[in-house]
Amino acid sequence: MKAIYSLLLPAIRIFPPEFAHNITIRALTLGLGPSNASQDDSVLATSVWGLSFRNPVGLSAGFDKGAEVPDAMLRAGFGFVEAGTVTPLPQSGNQKPRVFRLNKDRAAINRLGFNGTGLAPFLGRICRRKKGLGPFGANVGRNKLTKNGVADYEIGIQAVAPYADYLVANISSPNTPGLRAMQARARLEEMILRVLHARARAIPDQNARPPLIIKIAPDLTESEREDIAQVILTTGVDGLTVANTSIMRPKHLTGANKKESGGLSGVPLFPIALRLVADMYQRTGGNVPIIGCGGIASGEDAYAMIKAGASLVQLYTAMALQGPQLISNINSELAFLLKRDGFASIKDAVGIKHL
Ligand code: FNR
Repeated sequence: MKAIYSLLLPAIRIFPPEFAHNITIRALTLGLGPSNASQDDSVLATSVWGLSFRNPVGLSAGFDKGAEVPDAMLRAGFGFVEAGTVTPLPQSGNQKPRVFRLNKDRAAINRLGFNGTGLAPFLGRICRRKKGLGPFGANVGRNKLTKNGVADYEIGIQAVAPYADYLVANISSPNTPGLRAMQARARLEEMILRVLHARARAIPDQNARPPLIIKIAPDLTESEREDIAQVILTTGVDGLTVANTSIMRPKHLTGANKKESGGLSGVPLFPIALRLVADMYQRTGGNVPIIGCGGIASGEDAYAMIKAGASLVQLYTAMALQGPQLISNINSELAFLLKRDGFASIKDAVGIKHL
C-alpha cells in the first residue's frame, strides 16, 4: 500500500517550504510515513566505526532537528539518520520566511539559524528510543547569543553521547554569526580537544565511545582545508561530514530565489561537495572516514561520492523535493552500479578514483 505521506506529498508542496516541512514532520510523528520493508541488496551493507549500515544512504541533519522522527525515517529506507542541529537552549532562529525553493535548479536556500526547542526535549526523545533500526547520529551546535561557543559544543556532546551511535559537531552552518570561524586552526584544535574530553566524561569506557565527526563547509580556502585535515589527523577525530550548505551562488542558477541569503543546498552543490570530498580524502590519506553530502539526487551521484572517498553518503534537499521513494531508487541504482563495475562491497569502491 502506498503510504499516505507519499500521496499527500504533491499537496504538501503547494505550501511554503517551512510550513510544508512542519506538516511532514507531524504526519511522520503520527505514523503516516512510508515503510520500506524490502531487503536492501547485500552489496549495499557496510560497516564504518564498528557500526553496521544496511545501506550507505543517510538522512542529513536539518530535516529532523528535534529528533522527533528518526525511526520513521529509518523505516522509510535510510541506512542511517542524523538528528539536529540541536543547541543547548531553545531559540527561535531567524525571521520568516527563511527557507526558499529553487525548483528549476532542484535546490533550496535556507537561513533558519538553528531554530529549535533545545537540548532538553531532544534528550527526552532520544533516551526513550529503542535502538535497532539503524545507526542514529546526533548533531550539535551552539546558541546564537552564547558567549562561549565551545562550551555549548561540550554541553551538547556530553549530553547526547550516551544515546547516539555517532556524534557530529556542526561548525559549518552559514546562518549563525561567527560559527564558521571555528574552522580556523587554533580554535578548531581547542574545540575538538575540549569536545573529546566532554565525550570521555560522558562515556568513561574508551571502547564504548561513539565516534566524533566534524561537519565542514563547502566554502573553505585551500589553507583552511589543509589546517582542518591536519587538526583532524592530530587530534584523533573519527570522521568528517563533507559538506554543509554553501554561501556560493553558481552563475547558472535560474530560480527567482537565488538572491536570498543563506545556505544553498541541492543539485548545484553536488560538484562543489564532490570536489571537496576528493580533496579531504587525499589530504587525510584516506585514513578518516568521510560522509559525503551535498546535492546527491541519484544512485550515480552517491556512487561518484563513494569513488571520490566517501564511506557513507547523506542527503536532504533531493528527498524534500522528490519524496521518499527517492531513497530506494538511489539504493537500487547504486547496487546496480557497484555490481556492474565488479565491486563486492561499498568499501572496495571507496576512494577508487584516486588509485
Ligand atoms: C540543512 N542542513 C543542516 N545541516 C546541519 O548540520 N544542521 C542543520 O540544522 C541543518 N539544517 C538544514 C536545514 C535545511 C532546510 C536544509 C536544506 C539543510 C544542511 C544539510 O544537512 C546538508 O548538509 C546540505 O543540505 C547538503 O545536502 P543536500 O540537502 O544538498 O542533500
